[in-house]
Amino acid sequence: MKRLGKTWAELIRAARLCAYVLGVTIWLSIGGCGGVFTGIPELDTSDGQVFAQRCSACHGKPFGSHGVTHGVPDPRFRTLAEWQDLLPRMEQLMREKGLAPLTDSEREAINRYVSRHAKS
Ligand code: HEC
Repeated sequence: MKRLGKTWAELIRAARLCAYVLGVTIWLSIGGCGGVFTGIPELDTSDGQVFAQRCSACHGKPFGSHGVTHGVPDPRFRTLAEWQDLLPRMEQLMREKGLAPLTDSEREAINRYVSRHAKS
């Protein structure tokens, strides 16, 4: 009985470790090459990362109840003109929600990112 107890404890520890490693692996994959999981292009570039980070503050919680594909907005769903219309509205929402406003360089990165990937 004692032996069994120990085995279980070891198993549970191993399972915890596995879950942890798996979690970190998924997390790194989303951060490092999100495109593979979400189909959203170039989230692994520096511009893409700014886009993913800033926009997912409200959109796309990758670990939320919706799963990994319900992530950040897909830049290909809108034309550049539509993005230029929409982005200031998102910045306004960030202000209203008390999030840190975009810095100039973040705004430039996001603009570069959407202009590279927008619908033509
Ligand atoms: C402060 C939270 C917040 C952040 C940060 C945010 N959004 Fe939004 N977004 C919203 C809310 C709330 C809506 C729905 C209300 C609306 O459409 O005005 C929305 C709607 C949208 C829509 C759909 C709008 C439409 O008219 O169909 C898109 C696309 C979008 N956001 C993209 C982005 C992008 C890209 C970023 C990053 C630059 C971003 N959002 C950052 C809160 C946010």
